[in-house]
Amino acid sequence: MTECVEYKGYRFPATTVKDLEFAENELQVLDDDVFNVTYPKSGTTWMIEILSLIHSNGDPTWSQEVPNWDRVPWIEVQGTEEKLKKIQDRRRYFSSHLPRQFFCKSFTNSKAKVIYTARHPKDVAVSFYHFSKINKLFEYPENFDLFLKNFLSGNLPYGSWFDHVKGWLELAGKDNFLFNTYEDLQKDLRGSLKRICTFIGKELDEAALDAVMENVSFKTMKDNRMANFSLVPERIMDLTKGQFMRKGISGDWKNHFTVAQSEYFDKVFKEKMADIGVKLPWEE
Ligand code: A3P
Repeated sequence: MTECVEYKGYRFPATTVKDLEFAENELQVLDDDVFNVTYPKSGTTWMIEILSLIHSNGDPTWSQEVPNWDRVPWIEVQGTEEKLKKIQDRRRYFSSHLPRQFFCKSFTNSKAKVIYTARHPKDVAVSFYHFSKINKLFEYPENFDLFLKNFLSGNLPYGSWFDHVKGWLELAGKDNFLFNTYEDLQKDLRGSLKRICTFIGKELDEAALDAVMENVSFKTMKDNRMANFSLVPERIMDLTKGQFMRKGISGDWKNHFTVAQSEYFDKVFKEKMADIGVKLPWEE
């Protein structure tokens, strides 16, 4: 089963043109909203957990009782309009993999906040490759080399990693935009949490931060059915072929790339990111 809908030259899973149009044109952003924006496999689920735990001052009840897609829902997937109506008595947090050009138009003149998390693109490619084996909405990858070619040419659901990062980084420097990396979260989780708290205007004491740290760890999330996607129906995700919470490390690309693949990747990276104007942490 390969179920992606075509929208303006891109492919998106688990949605319809109507839902994509809703996200782009109709969703009314509130100044207090917080958006967790990523290219897939860059730390989206991790950030959902972080935002949930920060919101509840480290109390894990919400994260343990409500699936992550209802706590910090993706705005572009099917049924978002209905979901939004139910979020009334709390601050709204959303996730999105949308490229910048398809993101809610009403965001442009709002004070809503975007946390954009990016990850070393070689690790993204590896994670996306493994995820494509368990996610039945995506084409099953024949082998890593072919998958990598599609990654580099942007021939994948949600399009090109390079265009996604470039598009969103145009907002770098704005007060309501925070650039974060998966590697930052790995290297200094506490410092990253503090930065996120400051950005979204939430104060947590040290004990609450300890509780957040514990509940957003790879181990805790892997065991949490509300975070590990084991509640997704089997017709969509086949968890006999792998785990969503797979390895949770940086640098796994070294176990997958040949020297030639890595050198070619670096060349494409240099070409495509030449005009970006921001120094990215993963430039070789
Ligand atoms: P791997 O496949 O490399 O293990 P996304 O949520 O954007 O789809 O990203 C999924 C990737 O983030 C997976 O990477 C997953 O294991 C990793 N991940 C999720 N939660 C994590 C955590 N708490 N710590 C480290 N990595 C995490």
